[in-house]
Amino acid sequence: MSNFDLHIFEMPKRYTVTAALPYTNGPIHIGHLAGVYVPSDIFVRYLRLRGRDVVFICGSDEHGVPITIRAKKEGKTPQEIVDFFHENIRNSFQEFGISFDNYSRTSDPIHHSTASEFFAKLNANQKFEETESEQLFDQEAQQFLADRFVIGTCPKCGHTESYGDQCEQCGTSHNATDLLNPKSALSGSKPIVKLTKHWFLPLNQYTDFFKKWILKDHKIDWKSNVYGQCKSWIDDGLKPRAVTRDLDWGVPVPVPGAAGKVLYVWFDAPIGYISSTKEWAERLQKDWRPYWQDSDTELIHFIGKDNIVFHCIIFPAMLKAEGSYILPTNVPANEFLNLEGQKLSTSKNWAVWLPDYLVDFPNQQDVLRYVLTANAPESKDNDFTWSDFQARNNNELVAIFGNFINRVIVLVNKYYDNAVPQYDVLSTEDLEILETIKTFPDIIGKDIEAYRFRAASQSMMNLARLGNKYLADAEPWKIFKTDPHRVQNIMFVALQIASALAVLAEPFLPNTSMKLKNALNFNALKQKPNWESLHAEAITIPPEHELHNSELLFSKIEDSQIEYQLQKLEQRKKDNQAESKKISTLKEPVPFESFKAMDLRVGTIVEAQKMPKANKLLVLKVDIGSEVRTIVSGIAEHFQPHEVIGKQVTVLINLKPRLLRGVESQGMILMTENQDGALVFVNPDKQNSPNGAEIA
Ligand code: 2FM
Ligand code: ZN
Repeated sequence: MSNFDLHIFEMPKRYTVTAALPYTNGPIHIGHLAGVYVPSDIFVRYLRLRGRDVVFICGSDEHGVPITIRAKKEGKTPQEIVDFFHENIRNSFQEFGISFDNYSRTSDPIHHSTASEFFAKLNANQKFEETESEQLFDQEAQQFLADRFVIGTCPKCGHTESYGDQCEQCGTSHNATDLLNPKSALSGSKPIVKLTKHWFLPLNQYTDFFKKWILKDHKIDWKSNVYGQCKSWIDDGLKPRAVTRDLDWGVPVPVPGAAGKVLYVWFDAPIGYISSTKEWAERLQKDWRPYWQDSDTELIHFIGKDNIVFHCIIFPAMLKAEGSYILPTNVPANEFLNLEGQKLSTSKNWAVWLPDYLVDFPNQQDVLRYVLTANAPESKDNDFTWSDFQARNNNELVAIFGNFINRVIVLVNKYYDNAVPQYDVLSTEDLEILETIKTFPDIIGKDIEAYRFRAASQSMMNLARLGNKYLADAEPWKIFKTDPHRVQNIMFVALQIASALAVLAEPFLPNTSMKLKNALNFNALKQKPNWESLHAEAITIPPEHELHNSELLFSKIEDSQIEYQLQKLEQRKKDNQAESKKISTLKEPVPFESFKAMDLRVGTIVEAQKMPKANKLLVLKVDIGSEVRTIVSGIAEHFQPHEVIGKQVTVLINLKPRLLRGVESQGMILMTENQDGALVFVNPDKQNSPNGAEIA
């Protein structure tokens, strides 16, 4: 037996595969799919095909500040928000074909009890430090501020919009009190600090453990982006992390003297994987424990890169502190997917939403799966563009995979009335093709097992390419009359490629695989080909086997469909611009003295002309009562000189003079934009104030 045989016939192993629990504050978009759900689904479908014992776990993450913020904004309760999005998310996953064994939710009693017991055990075993510390407090909202309730400057990278618990720019996780210039996301006010008691997980006590477990033991097998982030946190020095919060939405802290406090969402959410497994096991009357507590089980967390610290450091520290759980074998985090060159954003509506996709592209789930896999952000951020989506569909799925299958099916129908032809002595070339088919299960499987889904999907497509080329070179349609025996061999071999594709495409294109198996009438086969059997034998559909009539696997995506999607995005861009103009971020308060120092006066524009060779500038003469000032203003794209003469305006007259294109500008005119985005003067409301009147 070769090494390969050992590999392929290994005993079934147990796997617990988790996909990040999505926050229930918005629908699922392509970023979630590309980062977490499509790769995890490919992995799990592959494991099932390989006969492994696997449970695929997910559910809604229903606590946490973003949900409370959305509820406040919409005047609803958090429960109303999570009920709505839980349904929305669960349905769209189902329709899209993500094959979770269980999809739970963290507001469910089974989760509350699991998370409470977990916390209580750690507390009883003195795994926490209870500390009174100063936390940020919003006096207007009468609420402690943590996590996304507070925005400020990241102490590590200087990003000015960092959240209280994590900076989205550099990924660092910190405490809200570490932020510079913190501001309440609730009221916009500057928080004060106030004493409050919290339970801390002393991560610092686990430093040696992490140095060995991650830095040494997982140096090779974890993805370099994941390993790198972990190393940077460990090298920076791990600090105790508060695992409770002063909030009223979440799992109540289950110990006396903790009224008004709940578990930190990142403490309860990963326990959600365990409670979802329990729910699944109860339904199937199985024991959940081996899936979390047996050292023969591989625990794999699929997540996006912003979740790395929580799954590689905090949750493992919790599991270790608890004592009876296994630790993750791997955490294959992906980078981010952008959309048409811009960061995806739920709040800015910059996304392709899954429910919208399912309406706009009915029955085309596999197309999106394929595009997101072929272009997955596995080792760096990547961009989704609609033109790439169209090209991958039309040039790969339709022109390669679909075209090959269609030719095979049509020709077998035409030449042999849908029955697999008899073959006789196969040519060297035919035999080579059959040998090559046998190498594919291992090539694809090895890449999937190493979380290289892009490469795996391309190998799958290469098998279709091989089929296409084989038919194009052999041209059976040209020799059907002159050499019918040769054509029988060709079609027989081509059918074996099609059959291998039906098996090997399943993890990537489950609907297509199913359609193809139907077309090839797998049901009537005595021995159905599978991943293992293909390795040993490439001839999987015998002569005389009857095929079914079939539909086309893929269809062309038209330019008009892509244009429609681009128009939708264009409209959102406009909406966002209008929105950001309406409410640009408020500036920091200034002392009254700074305001007093500005000399604002009423003035009248008495002359105006274009600045030579400058598109944007007008040179104005403005009468400010005591004198006529020269002011260079960047308004030439909005006004013709004659339109501004005679206008009364507000002028900042003590701005230090500046030289613009050789002309000294001796002040500044105050302008704003109206609702349509047009520039208008801030004028003293046509009250006929005299020039030079002070504005205060
Ligand atoms: O980033 C997120 O969307 C989180 N809701 C992921 C949670 S994963 C797990 F720990 F529950
Ligand atoms: Zn940062």
